[in-house]
Amino acid sequence: AYPKDFKGRKLLITAGPTFEDLDPVRYLGNRSTGRMGIALAEAAAARGATVHLVLGPTSLTTDAAGVTVHNVRSAREMHAASVANWPKADAAILAAAVADYRPKKIAGQKIKKGEKPLKVELVRNPDIAAELGEDKKTNQRLVGFALETENGLENARRKLERKNLDFIVLNSPNDKGAAFGHTTNKIQLVDHNKVTPFELKPKAEVANDILDALVSIL
Ligand code: C5P
Repeated sequence: AYPKDFKGRKLLITAGPTFEDLDPVRYLGNRSTGRMGIALAEAAAARGATVHLVLGPTSLTTDAAGVTVHNVRSAREMHAASVANWPKADAAILAAAVADYRPKKIAGQKIKKGEKPLKVELVRNPDIAAELGEDKKTNQRLVGFALETENGLENARRKLERKNLDFIVLNSPNDKGAAFGHTTNKIQLVDHNKVTPFELKPKAEVANDILDALVSIL
């Protein structure tokens, strides 16, 4: 059992995918289930934290004591809920797989098929991590995730700097049993001076490894 080393701490955690609507029945989404972020929320609450979990659309949820769930659908909704909860948080862990793009317009009616290819214009979504990083106060800590299929370390380090993160959790869907859709994960923690690799293990244990690293810099 872990000590209540997060007692009195407020955490903001994002988790899950975002869905970007195309029309009243269709959306662009991704394979995230939210399991890693939910595991983080539950582990942090068990260690005494007050957690605000901003959760994208997924069939998973949590009713753990100490976790307030804010259900959102799109990246812009996730952005609004995250920005609202950031000022009073001691730290944020951004585990959500946020869509980088959304359809420029959402059709009011179901799009009918035709003979020609369908063109959909996509526009950039806000980068929640980068924005929280810009507004980060000296006593706040910000943790991101990087899911990379290639050049993992290089990309993770670039994100660490660009988004003003304190450390980043790197995982790869190329590793067996890791990342989307698995109950286990294999991570590396990347900060400004070192890389710490971990074994493949259940997401609940991975969550506690991440929280150990966070509590040491709070
Ligand atoms: O740039 P990339 O999407 O790979 O960065 C991943 C990290 O940034 C994750 O922590 C993710 O939750 C966060 N992110 C975000 N808002 C976005 C895109 C990514 O908070 N629009």
